[in-house]
Amino acid sequence: MIAVLDFGSQYTQLIARRIRQMGVLGEIFPCDVSPVRLKDKHASGVILSGGPASVYAPGAPDLNPELLDIGFPVLGICYGMQIMAKTLGGVVKSSGQAEYGPAEVDLETSELLFRNLGRRQSVWMSHGDRVDALPEGFTSIGFSSSSPVAAMANAGRRWYGVQFHPEVSHTPAGMDILRHFVFDICGAEADWDIGQFADQVVQEISSRVGDGKVITAVSGGVDSTVTAVLMQRAVGDQLTCIFVDNGLLREGEWEEVPARYKERMGLRVVAVDARERFLKALEGVTDPEIKRKRIGRTFIEIFEEEARRMGKVDFLAQGTLYPDVIESISQRGPSATIKTHHNVGGLPETMKLELIEPLRELFKDEVRELGRVLGIDAELLGRHPFPGPGLGIRVIGEVTGERVRILQRVDRIFLEQIRRAGIYDEIWQAFAVLLPVRAVGVMGDERTYEEAVVLRAVTSEDAMTADWSRIPEEILAEVSSRIVNEVRGVNRVLYDLSSKPPATIEWE
Ligand code: XMP
Repeated sequence: MIAVLDFGSQYTQLIARRIRQMGVLGEIFPCDVSPVRLKDKHASGVILSGGPASVYAPGAPDLNPELLDIGFPVLGICYGMQIMAKTLGGVVKSSGQAEYGPAEVDLETSELLFRNLGRRQSVWMSHGDRVDALPEGFTSIGFSSSSPVAAMANAGRRWYGVQFHPEVSHTPAGMDILRHFVFDICGAEADWDIGQFADQVVQEISSRVGDGKVITAVSGGVDSTVTAVLMQRAVGDQLTCIFVDNGLLREGEWEEVPARYKERMGLRVVAVDARERFLKALEGVTDPEIKRKRIGRTFIEIFEEEARRMGKVDFLAQGTLYPDVIESISQRGPSATIKTHHNVGGLPETMKLELIEPLRELFKDEVRELGRVLGIDAELLGRHPFPGPGLGIRVIGEVTGERVRILQRVDRIFLEQIRRAGIYDEIWQAFAVLLPVRAVGVMGDERTYEEAVVLRAVTSEDAMTADWSRIPEEILAEVSSRIVNEVRGVNRVLYDLSSKPPATIEWE
């Protein structure tokens, strides 16, 4: 196991995920974890994550010097390198020239950490401070035009630091650097896989829940289905799944989803028709954050009611993933709230159920792999992500039953055509958005003044960044003509050419 100490970086989870990708367990700990605990857990090495601005800022998290005394190999990344330098008697200074984004560094390739790499590397930087004087026993092993110490080493003690971020994909040699640390420097072995994660989580949940009762919301999507199957393994029939029709589902799902759960997965599902109630809660609302909060709150109210109906229920399990968490909660450090994903930020404080989120540290592709290990069928696992608030955040402006129905038809046609063209699996997510504007058109010599819809399709690895899909024109042409011909009330179809950032995947 490699311990990743969290100093508040938005990339901490990404570091852990990179380690897991190598077949080694990467486990995250708070930055003030006791070194003895890491020893007890048989950590082979420690990575110090990046973190907020300056090691000298009041309240900046410190590194426990005992962690260095105990003899672990250590790799400090960005803030992690600076805090290691400071703790060992080096000097960290504001560089007067912050470096954000791509940079070039020259690496000392005779060092184990950078073995077999080209000397000149593109890396991703994100820092204002730099190491100005090395601690005793260290040498500089990386140089950039703005930092004479872009990387440092005390090879005898197996202590390393890099000013750049090897964990992000914008550092092409990053994975090799991490691999050298994990295997060559820490001597870890690649003997971990997602099946072990499943076993561990099942065990943890089972002892946490005891003989308590659990409910979980299922939507037919990957995250909630994997969560439900995992929970079922852990607590058996103490689990009840609740499928809520919030009136914001895709066409046909109210009929298909609960049946599939019961027949194919043997899950116990209570289906609740709450269409009217959600529409009522959304009446007159146009602000995206208020929509999310109202939808989230209505969900939770329904869960609580169902729970009450079932007698005593103790836990609510949710399939929140890491990217949902990072974008919804302001961590220490640079990550700001982008939008409140309903299953994270919308929970009312009075919620009386205890929350279990077994997928909280995982990325989507890891959840799919976990689902495969749990025996969930490939078709379901390959489904595009669908947001918790559903079509509610794709009907821009006020959500009404009629506008949702229009969007459902458009969405069905778009996805049908994409499936027919055989490109569904290449796309991370494809969907339609109904705009709050009307446009003039002409149909059979008549003037029309009708709705405009946007088609959005993106490629992505983990939803944190995304690019618009280059869907061939012929396919788009077919989709567009089917939509204006088959969906009454729509006379205009647009295709969204924005990447994330600066846009997001959803419109709201
Ligand atoms: P954005 O729009 O933030 O979306 O780029 C990133 C990914 O998250 C999905 N998404 C949500 N999922 N509840 C969810 O469960 C939500 O409130 C929510 N909002 C966005 C989105 O579909 C994309 O895959």
